[in-house]
Amino acid sequence: MLSKEKNDTLCRVEGDAPMGRLMRNYWLPACASTDLVAGGAPRRVQLLGEELVAYRSPNGSLGLIDEYCPHRGASLVLANNEDCGLRCLYHGWLVNGDGKVLETPPEPADSKLKERVIFVAYKVHEAGGVVWAWLGDQSKAPPPPAFEFAGLDPSQIIIMRAREEANWAQAIEGVLDSAHSNYLHSGGIKPTEDATANTVLGTKAHLDRPSDDGAPKLDVETTSYGFRYAAIRKPLREADRNKYIRVTLFIAPCFGMFPAAKGWGNMQFFVPEADGKSMFWYVIWKKDAPMTQAERDRYLDNMGLRPGVDVDENLNKFAKRSNNWKQDRAAMMRGDSFTGIKGVNIEDIVIHESMGPIYDRTKEHLGSSDLAVIHYRRMMIEAAEQFAQTGKPQIGFAEPVDHVRLRAGEGMIPHSERWQVVMEDEQPRRAAE
Ligand code: FES
Ligand SMILES: [Fe+2]
Repeated sequence: MLSKEKNDTLCRVEGDAPMGRLMRNYWLPACASTDLVAGGAPRRVQLLGEELVAYRSPNGSLGLIDEYCPHRGASLVLANNEDCGLRCLYHGWLVNGDGKVLETPPEPADSKLKERVIFVAYKVHEAGGVVWAWLGDQSKAPPPPAFEFAGLDPSQIIIMRAREEANWAQAIEGVLDSAHSNYLHSGGIKPTEDATANTVLGTKAHLDRPSDDGAPKLDVETTSYGFRYAAIRKPLREADRNKYIRVTLFIAPCFGMFPAAKGWGNMQFFVPEADGKSMFWYVIWKKDAPMTQAERDRYLDNMGLRPGVDVDENLNKFAKRSNNWKQDRAAMMRGDSFTGIKGVNIEDIVIHESMGPIYDRTKEHLGSSDLAVIHYRRMMIEAAEQFAQTGKPQIGFAEPVDHVRLRAGEGMIPHSERWQVVMEDEQPRRAAE
């Protein structure tokens, strides 16, 4: 459990909240490349409680600025998207992505008003289908994180998103809690004897696992980028000789990476929009070839995040608290579904939302399966407190992080081996013969 004070430190990101201030030392995903059409509609973006608007000019350049016009506050989501910036509908002010006002048409021709106005504008960077935002000191933006997918063609990447009406911290705790997959996802993740990282999407769901052990042992190892942890399970086959390992990464401040099918990679982002809501991202990439439509469809359906079917154009889910998340009790009564919820990611999001916008962690009772959750909270609370005192962020700064090389992994190894051997190369380890 956490005290109310520590819980607030962990969860709250708006204004001067220590966690929000810490997060401004990291590039954050703002929107997807596909959200922004050149000369098309600006897109509302919320990060750390700030209401912003992103757009792609007709000439292709990107902007991320305050949503509200610096004249008298009309929303620039409605603005005309012109070559030099956004033109507000109300009085025609033209503003650009550098935070400058270029034209103030109702003012006298010799007016100096526009030179005196400065407003919020943030640096952006586009890679791998993601538009990243830098909300820290605009004169000191470090290179953006180049994760493995950043250099791939869009045909190799699928990006799924949905807004969670829940704080970022309770959202990311799901990816740090391997045990829940045996229960919450028992409909979508099946014990299958030959399921390993070698399974291929299209012939067998990569989600299956060679174990039905619902009480994994966890072990955590701190790293330069955050930490990684192993979930160690009894396998279905030869449990007397082997153990089944899954290694998941926590990458500060709000990213998770976990095992994917061989030749594939995947990450989840849990980006704080405000104290009580976050944007869930699931990025999946195929390393060496474009994805087929069948592969894309399979992911969209398995995860339950198909645009237009599961989420609307603003990334709000159709399953929500007010309709009890469309839970199918009849399917549960028939024994067809443990959760009555369709889609692995929707199951996760529903659970996070069910706790309320910010869960009161003074009421919880943690067990041994929560080891990685405990580690992550301690790490991030300390990081926020330390940053508030010193103004210097630590995680990911003590030594440079080579994001492109970060990998999660899984494998079957003999009992005598350390779980870290799973990560020594990218090939899954062989079980003892
Ligand atoms: S409010 Fe935007 S131009 Fe007046
Ligand atoms: Fe989950």
